[in-house]
Amino acid sequence: MNRRDFIDKSSLLFPSMLVSPKIIGDLDVKKIKTGNKRISSPYVISTWNVPEANLIAGESLDKNMNAIDAAIRGVAYEEANIKNTTVGNGGSPDRDGNVTLDACVMDENGNCGSVLAVENIVHVAALAKDVMEKTPHVILAGKGARKFALDQGYKPENLLSPESKIDWLDWLEKGNYNPKINVENHDTIGMLCRDKAGNLSGACTTSGLAYKMQGRVGDSPIIGSGLFIDNEVGGAVATGLGEEVIKTVGSFLIVELMRNGLNPQEACEKAINRIISKHKGKPNFQVAYIATNKNGEIGAYSIHNDFSYTFYKNQTNQNIKSKSVF
Ligand code: GLY
Repeated sequence: MNRRDFIDKSSLLFPSMLVSPKIIGDLDVKKIKTGNKRISSPYVISTWNVPEANLIAGESLDKNMNAIDAAIRGVAYEEANIKNTTVGNGGSPDRDGNVTLDACVMDENGNCGSVLAVENIVHVAALAKDVMEKTPHVILAGKGARKFALDQGYKPENLLSPESKIDWLDWLEKGNYNPKINVENHDTIGMLCRDKAGNLSGACTTSGLAYKMQGRVGDSPIIGSGLFIDNEVGGAVATGLGEEVIKTVGSFLIVELMRNGLNPQEACEKAINRIISKHKGKPNFQVAYIATNKNGEIGAYSIHNDFSYTFYKNQTNQNIKSKSVF
């Protein structure tokens, strides 16, 4: 998969028609009521180069959608994109050939929902929101999450694409399990949105590490690790080797650092350096964070230099290379 092509400001050429009506129709979206509140400029920041997903979310915010629904609608594009082997349909399977998806969402009121190791369901970020809104729980895992999805009317699908199956069979022959996250094997779409009411929300969705052990779950659906939002302060989302993000509760750490006065860039750098400090020398894995605060400032930082993020504001959608340690 080569997703390296940077987009420029003409990326508004990506029409929102790229999202199938099915994806839009599946989401129960609510528009924000700004009332007498000052209208803020909405914006979207996403991990990696995901122009279509970012634009869909940005245009939705411009049309008054609330932040949580815009984020779910944005990431739904990549969940349905069979060419993206790290998220949703077409995601790389575990060692036994099962595609298992993880996702979480968090809104401006501190509500959150999460699903772990779900099979056969494409739109797991939307499912995480259903867990948040329609159950008394925060997390549903495995068969229970799948059953809940089917009860909610999600259609079961075979998520193992022919291409991912060929790659998996090839991997089985080599049997070389050496988890490595880079731009060709990136792993998570994390998206942070601020809507016109100035509210922050986010979504994080992944198929996790390619050829992971059955049942392995990374940071992405873990509130505080893969994603954290505090509407009074800001939000952060992670991508990369989930085990390392979990050990430092990375996204929560970044929000707390911002609460203590750091700007998003400083907070992302400090969180990455916390991981680096636990390792001798140059780590052979990637972790990256993006963050934003209530002032509308954004930040991004990664261990290695192959990370970029996508930023939409004022009808401009651009891919920006992140600063990195190495
Ligand atoms: N960051 C995604 C994972 O490690 O599963």
